[in-house]
Amino acid sequence: MSKKVLLSGVRPSGKPHIGNYFGALKQFVDLQDQYEAYIMIADYHALDFVQNGKDMKQNIMNVLLDYLAVGLDPKKVTIFKQSDVSEHTELARIFETITTMPYLMRAHAFKDAEAKNKDLSVGVFNYPMLMAADILLYSPDIVPVGADQKQHIEIARDTAEKFNRIFGDTFKLPEPLIMKEVATVPGTDGRKMSKSYGNTIPLFAEYEEIKKCVMSIVTDSAGGFPKNVFEIHKLLRPEDELKKIYEEKAGKYKELKEMLIEDLEKFIAPLREKRKEFEKDIPKALEILKAGGEKAKKISGPKMDEVREKVGVKLY
Ligand code: ADP
Ligand code: TRP
Repeated sequence: MSKKVLLSGVRPSGKPHIGNYFGALKQFVDLQDQYEAYIMIADYHALDFVQNGKDMKQNIMNVLLDYLAVGLDPKKVTIFKQSDVSEHTELARIFETITTMPYLMRAHAFKDAEAKNKDLSVGVFNYPMLMAADILLYSPDIVPVGADQKQHIEIARDTAEKFNRIFGDTFKLPEPLIMKEVATVPGTDGRKMSKSYGNTIPLFAEYEEIKKCVMSIVTDSAGGFPKNVFEIHKLLRPEDELKKIYEEKAGKYKELKEMLIEDLEKFIAPLREKRKEFEKDIPKALEILKAGGEKAKKISGPKMDEVREKVGVKLY
């Protein structure tokens, strides 16, 4: 029996943090044996924000090395970048023609972005269309993502249904896979950990950086229980064990933070070392990425041909 298909992606928009790891990357690694997995570097999604060629290149390389360092095995997983597979942007164009503006204007991500900046690019507005294309080309059974991406997957489902209704059954409806217990990793200020809030603990941080981040975690002096420290700490130790420790050390915030620093270092140090190994052989990493794109095309190419046939533009 053939394996079920998994697809996901990450925008190459900066250094990954432990929220990205527990919310997304770790799941890819845990699921790579069970599924036929496609993991994509969504560079054209990042182009909404990264508009400097040098930075873009650097960011793509960084994500690739990050993926390899956290344990994605290119023998099991197809790692590729979106821009190598032009079917993604082509299908997004078709989806844009069957989707209305009011529908996309109801998306949370659009509303949030618009609240921050009225001069939104058309790219940001259309973001969910490209993401729907990313997903639907591969007919995945599941799409593992963090909770903030749930609506984008619902949009992909709606878009698949709409296309199927208009042009006949073509796309399979994907399911999101959201790990409940780590659905939203909090940052050092207690809000969702996010690059855009500057409240992250970088996944490959050096010891001194880990120390600085942990010391900056905001604590509330009432009650003796540093919730923000605990919420991050529980990613690294069983909750029951941790609760006992936090009860014993009630009010001793400095000691608890020091313990978190050591636990983070234990978790991060091996990842940091592995990444340094991959950095030594960039041509090999690039070869992996290029081969991944070619493999992805074997799936997306025939699917796109079916779409061209259905919409009636395929004449030969
Ligand atoms: P950021 O908010 O830092 O820009 P991204 O939007 O690049 O992060 O997210 C990349 C992936 O990591 C997505 O699947 C997202 O859902 C997941 N993710 C991001 N932040 C968190 C978090 N704090 N907790 C859990 N998952 C997260
Ligand atoms: N939008 C996702 C994010 O911000 C990245 C992404 C792009 C993605 N295309 C995808 C995730 C397809 C899953 C499937 O993290």
